[in-house]
Amino acid sequence: MKILSVVGARPQFVKLAPIARAMEGRAEHVIVHTGQHYDELMSDVFFRDLGIPEPDENLAVGSGKHGAQTGAMLAGLEALFEKHQPDVVLVYGDTNSTLAAAVAAVKIHIPVAHLEAGLRSFNRRMPEEHNRVLTDHAADLLLAPTRVAVDHLTSEGLGDRTVLVGDVMTDVLFAVRDRLDEDPRPLPEGLVEGEYHVATIHRPDNTDDPARLVAIVDNLASLSRPVLLLAHPRLRKLADQHGIDLSAGSITATTPLAYPALVDAVRRSAGVVTDSGGLQKEAFLLRVPCTTIRPETEWVETVELGWNALVSEDLTVLAQTVERPAPEPTDAQPYGDGHAAERTVDALLAHRH
Ligand code: UD1
Repeated sequence: MKILSVVGARPQFVKLAPIARAMEGRAEHVIVHTGQHYDELMSDVFFRDLGIPEPDENLAVGSGKHGAQTGAMLAGLEALFEKHQPDVVLVYGDTNSTLAAAVAAVKIHIPVAHLEAGLRSFNRRMPEEHNRVLTDHAADLLLAPTRVAVDHLTSEGLGDRTVLVGDVMTDVLFAVRDRLDEDPRPLPEGLVEGEYHVATIHRPDNTDDPARLVAIVDNLASLSRPVLLLAHPRLRKLADQHGIDLSAGSITATTPLAYPALVDAVRRSAGVVTDSGGLQKEAFLLRVPCTTIRPETEWVETVELGWNALVSEDLTVLAQTVERPAPEPTDAQPYGDGHAAERTVDALLAHRH
């Protein structure tokens, strides 16, 4: 069986790592990179560190407005699907690369499987929400990470195409954590174990309005512990444009980290402040408290279990929320057992018959 994976943005490279490994010896695997993320630190370093094979194809579409970026991928992917003739196209998560690949495949009658299907924020301002809903309804096989995701798909009439496989981010995170246990690294200069926060901000709703961005940065700058701010290129660009100092007060702004360095920085921190989807869950899996600067989350289990707190409209409570007391310990495993990639390949192979 020939499976063609399409990836393009940072979180998709992380999800691809365990899938590529699980595919070895079981299926022919073609990897296509759309080029949505292209910086060394946003792309190449993930392939190297996580042992992902070089992509077979790279469309190099680069940045652009949603329509132009998605459209360029759609045209390029159609040609590549025709060239490779896969039995199934596997798409990951909720980026513009996901949607483009799903639409390109379904139009030429190639079955589509969606990994991380069924997540919903119910917030139609988020580009990821359009991408998820449209991809799920176009796909033939929905690979859901959680029970909540299965429930969403069932309530949208998609239950009979759905398989609960677990979360592949758990697979890769646990593998990297175990490697770090065997081979510990020094902390970045000036940081003391358990005495700093890790922060990331990149969502348009937080970065694009200068007043909001200033309020977020001011709050981070006022925290009592040092803040390691891992600045996504979008944040860097908008802060420069509006003259906002990203290294004010408690903050030290650095480039984004490679995946193992990120996992290490998070697991040794006092807490995470983020608007990323993946990082909320990584913090939970490492049992580090998280504060999410968004009105809602797709990873509701992290909030229900007390390890994640949402702050959005009223940013004045951000600092006190970040510095809240530690949550109750839990041994709940809402994100699977670290073997989701194998179950994903099982489901892909079974779907052929
Ligand atoms: C994308 C995904 C988002 C995911 C995020 C992870 C969509 C709609 N959004 O958002 O779900 O959480 O990736 O990082 O697909 N840029 C660079 N170099 C790069 C990549 C981006 O400089 O390698 C800059 C460009 O100026 C670009 C901006 O960042 O305009 C935004 O990049 P884009 O890929 O459009 O979306 P993200 O915000 O990264």
